[in-house]
Amino acid sequence: MARVAVVTGGTRGIGEAISIALKQAGYLVAANYAGNDEAAAKFKAETGIAVYKWDVSNYESCVAGLAQVEKDLGPVDILVNNAGITRDAMFHKMTLDQWNAVINTNLNSLFNMTRPLWEGMRARKFGRVICISSINGQKGQMGQANYSAAKAGDIGFVKALAQEGARAGITVNSITPGYIATEMVKAIDPAIIEKSILPHIPVGRLGEPEEIARCVVFLASDNAGFITGSTLSANGGQYMV
Ligand code: CAA
Repeated sequence: MARVAVVTGGTRGIGEAISIALKQAGYLVAANYAGNDEAAAKFKAETGIAVYKWDVSNYESCVAGLAQVEKDLGPVDILVNNAGITRDAMFHKMTLDQWNAVINTNLNSLFNMTRPLWEGMRARKFGRVICISSINGQKGQMGQANYSAAKAGDIGFVKALAQEGARAGITVNSITPGYIATEMVKAIDPAIIEKSILPHIPVGRLGEPEEIARCVVFLASDNAGFITGSTLSANGGQYMV
């Protein structure tokens, strides 16, 4: 029986590539999304992957959404916490709404999504939790106090939970992408990308979503059973830890 994987924010950007790569690797995939019905319908039509709409910043919505996925596809073995937003602003201009939106969607979602699945993974003695953090959670980024805080939080969450899951056959890892060619990065002023970002990437280009998806497929596999609590950097050499 194919293992079931849930990818949050799984219909666009890095998440879309992850959903497709997991399907190609033989998993039964559920792609969650929050709001863009049009993009989700197009994704579903093109890939044949099931899509589920709920807001990962809301705990009750996650419980209900995951219950529906498990009813339709079976128990979830692989969770990819990928959904994320930016509300960039220099801190002296940042509003409480910008702070809360990013912390709720990017960090509180880890509890909301992982907690409802955790006991089932423990009972079945198998699980893979993969959190898509960011280079900016490792090095910090001007204009992203909210996002950097949330993404650094991802890494702490993973390291704590990895210790709890280890004896139950559950691995918990984070991936820290650098600047990947998605709508999120393309939303940055092109002048800033040219002047302030690209010169700091030794490979000399943005990453591709598929380059992150391949990391996920590896961490989800049986071959990665001894890897837990790790932070896998995929950033073109921009930041080395
Ligand atoms: N790296 C280095 N320097 C940066 C920078 C960056 N990422 N972003 C901005 N700067 C510099 C600008 O070049 C500018 O320098 P100068 O004064 O020398 O021209 C200075 O910071 C101030 O920037 P702005 O004039 O643009 O200030 P603003 O208040 O108008 O806008 C901002 C602030 C909204 C944060 C805007 O600068 C911006 O969008 N910056 C990009 C921030 C960024 O890198 N976000 C990452 C988004 S992608 C993502 O988050 C995915 C991921 O995980 C990597």
